Amino acid sequence: MRIINVVAILMILAACSPKSTSKISSVSKKDPFIEQLMSKMTLDEKLGQMTLYTTDWESTGPTIRGGYQDDIKSGRCGALFNSHTVDFTTQLQKIAMEESRLKIPLLFGYDVVHGYKTMFPIPLGEAASWDLEAIEKSAYIMSKEAAASGLHWTFAPMVDITREPRWGRVMEGAGEDPYLGSRIAEARVRGIQGDGFGKMDRLLACVKHFAAYGAPIAGRDYNSVEISERVFRETYLPPYEAAIKAGAKTVMTSFNDYDGVPASGSKYLLTDILRKEWGFDGFVVTDYTSINEMVNHGVAKDATDAGIMAVNAGVDMDMQSAAFQEKIKIGITDGRVKIEKIDASVRRILRLKKELGLFENPYKFSDKQRESKTIMAKEHLEASKDVAKKSVVLLKNSGILPLPKKQLKILVTGPLADDKNNLIGAWSASGEGRHCVSLYEGLRQHPASANYNFEHLKGCEIEGNDRSQFNIILEKASTSDVIILAIGEHKDMSGEAASKTMIRIPGVQEELLKALKTIGKPIITVVMNGRPLVLNEVDLNSDAVIEAWWLGTQAGNALADIIYGDYNPSGKLPICFPRNEGQIPIYYNHKNTGRPLNPTDKYTTKYLDAPNTPLYAFGYGLSYTTFTYSTPSTSKVSFSDADQVTISVNVSNTGNYDGEEVVQLYIRDLIASVTRPVKELKAFKKLMIKKGETKKVEFVLSKKDFEFYDQAMKKTTEAGEFHIFVGSNSDTKNKISVFLTK
Ligand code: BGC
Repeated sequence: MRIINVVAILMILAACSPKSTSKISSVSKKDPFIEQLMSKMTLDEKLGQMTLYTTDWESTGPTIRGGYQDDIKSGRCGALFNSHTVDFTTQLQKIAMEESRLKIPLLFGYDVVHGYKTMFPIPLGEAASWDLEAIEKSAYIMSKEAAASGLHWTFAPMVDITREPRWGRVMEGAGEDPYLGSRIAEARVRGIQGDGFGKMDRLLACVKHFAAYGAPIAGRDYNSVEISERVFRETYLPPYEAAIKAGAKTVMTSFNDYDGVPASGSKYLLTDILRKEWGFDGFVVTDYTSINEMVNHGVAKDATDAGIMAVNAGVDMDMQSAAFQEKIKIGITDGRVKIEKIDASVRRILRLKKELGLFENPYKFSDKQRESKTIMAKEHLEASKDVAKKSVVLLKNSGILPLPKKQLKILVTGPLADDKNNLIGAWSASGEGRHCVSLYEGLRQHPASANYNFEHLKGCEIEGNDRSQFNIILEKASTSDVIILAIGEHKDMSGEAASKTMIRIPGVQEELLKALKTIGKPIITVVMNGRPLVLNEVDLNSDAVIEAWWLGTQAGNALADIIYGDYNPSGKLPICFPRNEGQIPIYYNHKNTGRPLNPTDKYTTKYLDAPNTPLYAFGYGLSYTTFTYSTPSTSKVSFSDADQVTISVNVSNTGNYDGEEVVQLYIRDLIASVTRPVKELKAFKKLMIKKGETKKVEFVLSKKDFEFYDQAMKKTTEAGEFHIFVGSNSDTKNKISVFLTK
């Protein structure tokens, strides 16, 4: 009897034609198919759609906990994460489709952050490319590979702005700047979702971690956030908003509290800002067990209260807390949770499953042939190499780079010189170190390698104090012409739960560098890391310094192109590199203060033991060529809110190589009703300028670029003088004045 009823229900549902539109539609309107389905759902089944559990990966392969399997069968779990590959997702989907009452397809998610199998540079590194097209392309390729492996949803992009190099998750974001971070957030959303995520090569994006997770006190992961509403809105919120406006359909809460309220229980964040201010119409998922953690935060006495707080704040889906599945029924019974709230969340979730096309074909993303054809396709590796090259930042070059094309004996050393496993970086999804090209491999397999004789010795480990190879290394160095030294961090030294108080190169690696320096041969130091490090000694003792982050699958090939001069480095730092930890937080868009730095006056803002400036500034990065800038000119010296102002500058390539330059525009509002930063990035363009060539670069600015929050926290512009700076990094002094009139 029951079976017949189910069949009848399914036939009615099918007749409602659940065609996916592939266009992203608004969830505010009710969809007859979804409404009909919901009318058949029990409360448990509704709460099941609001429940997300992880699967497990054992050494033998993927597994799912017995209890979760039962939850799928009984409709008490509607989404799974860490569940990928066509085989595994098919097996799981079958449980939902063949053994559950309403046969609602499961949604499969995973942290595909900077690559699925083909790995791209870590997001912080990729941000250094300032190349929005390349970033969008890498987000597209990772989504294409993941979608071919049965996935529907990625927990990316991570758009948390951070001024905290001590925080391990700095590697996952786009650095310190709200403008650059916003443009990159949009590019990543476009790459992941395209113009409709029901397509076979696109995933559902999840903007995380909402909000201000990048501002933990003292850089310690999961710590509280204490920032003013002004800093919150001006510095931390913009990339989330940009990602939502770019169409991101899901949002993940953060672990931290903001202004005393944990994000997963914050109505202010999840309803007032996200839905009411920004019009977000997708669904909100919590971060891992963050509902239950509200008990530790001290705002809920138990998981039931925490679950009720979360759902009332605006959470739609509970990751891993089991609070929605098990606890909030009490709140529905005693009136603390309205059933309409539950219905709204279920509607949002089902709507996105429908837009993905899962009701039409739950196995749509599970095609073995497509999987094997797509994963690590040749063009994916090419794209990975392309963006890897663009992400490298040349921090120092006394002229040794690019390597001259003549017979040279090269000593390649350092613990990361022939390392593969670390190159994928943290959050590497299903990426494998064995697929990566090490620096040493890249150098040897490049056509230019015919000029050189190589010798390789590791020299030391990343950590520990074993110096036993030092003597032999020094002997080899003395008979070499050039030394290439690869040092840095282990990939797990950044990422989640990887905060540090000292951001130094670990072990005896710097000692090795200093020992090599005594030999007097030119040293090219390649630094591989997930966060800004203190590089004073590296800078001092090297002839050239290459910031290579974790570049992904094609790391070695990309670096070889740079070292041999096939590619002229063009990356610019998306975050300051401090001189020491005591300077943190250090960022370019700080305020002037009432006592701005005056080196001859003790009573101005400064340290007794270090300069105020970072070692390497935001936006900094060298090229093999040199660029000179004309003084900027403006289409209008005075303008009003209704006007657009065009700022132009001529940029000339005055060196010996063709090269790309990132032309950066910053503003300063000289006098306003509230204090304003000494510089704010408002635009940039990356362009190729051939040697000897001059290009005119134009930027159009309008009201939105001059806006800020006044004393009443109203977004506004005020009349007065602005400096407009245009140059090659945030230190630029190249400026013009313009006046906003009212
Ligand atoms: C992280 C999230 C991630 C989630 C699922 C959490 O610990 O904070 O960024 O998406 O785990 O893996």
